[in-house]
Amino acid sequence: MALDISPFDGPIGAEVSGIDLARPVAAADQKVLEDAWNAHAVLVFRGQTLEPADLVRFSRGFGALEIHVLDQYLHADHPEILVVSNIQENGEPIGIYDAGRYWHSDLSYLAEPSRGSVLYAIEIPEEGGETLGNTLWAHAGAAYEALDDGLKARLDGLEAAFDLGKRFQKLVDDGDADAAMTDEQIKKTPEVVHPVIRTHPVTGRKSIFVNIGHTTHILGLPADESQAILEELWAHCIRPEFVYRHKWREGDVVMWDNVPTQHLAICDYALPQRRLLHRTTLSGDRPY
Ligand code: OGA
Ligand code: MN
Repeated sequence: MALDISPFDGPIGAEVSGIDLARPVAAADQKVLEDAWNAHAVLVFRGQTLEPADLVRFSRGFGALEIHVLDQYLHADHPEILVVSNIQENGEPIGIYDAGRYWHSDLSYLAEPSRGSVLYAIEIPEEGGETLGNTLWAHAGAAYEALDDGLKARLDGLEAAFDLGKRFQKLVDDGDADAAMTDEQIKKTPEVVHPVIRTHPVTGRKSIFVNIGHTTHILGLPADESQAILEELWAHCIRPEFVYRHKWREGDVVMWDNVPTQHLAICDYALPQRRLLHRTTLSGDRPY
């Protein structure tokens, strides 16, 4: 079983085969995976069978893990795992149903946003042979490179505010989320400021970091101008040529780089269609 990396067509994603993630990854393979992760931003592993401890061990191979602020959705035995699910037990959700209904980069509302995340698919809904609950990833580096030079120059040095509480409240107001965040959770996620365009710590590639899910405004600009630029960047980032759409199968592991990508969950299913994934989140550094 030789480790193989097959890049997808387009600027984002590769399928990795020839590796069983339920076993410790050999040092040489770990290096190949890290290089592929940096090069392709999204790695897809099919046909895996993982215990929670396997997912945690595999994820830790790439760095320290975060414990998510939405602590009601953490795995009971492994708090490094965030349960992403629409399933309810005894009338209570067992996980977060809406893990990303708006384009976002994980934890971009923290001073030190996540470097990367890993999702492991345990139950995936389908209807008439079609997989529901797809996830989309956009390459915000390829998108940045396609901007015209005038706009690139204008964005240079601009900073933006990111605020989970404010954006989450908007979800609640729009009827897209059930429960507001608690005061405690809001306190843990005060507004932070990041560059509009950030630089990748390993590849040095620049990418669009402002995202619909967490960014509220660009600093130092009139509100309408800030909004116009944000909307232009958001729309540009998710043009089809920059996007990979993942059709989940049970046993898939997808790991991605949160620095040069944004992603979106398609919520096109409902109980009794069940969806269950386990997610781990890699810590990252302050964007620059
Ligand atoms: C996430 C996320 C997308 C999905 O876990 O970070 O955005 O499709 N999930 O569940
Ligand atoms: Mn996410």
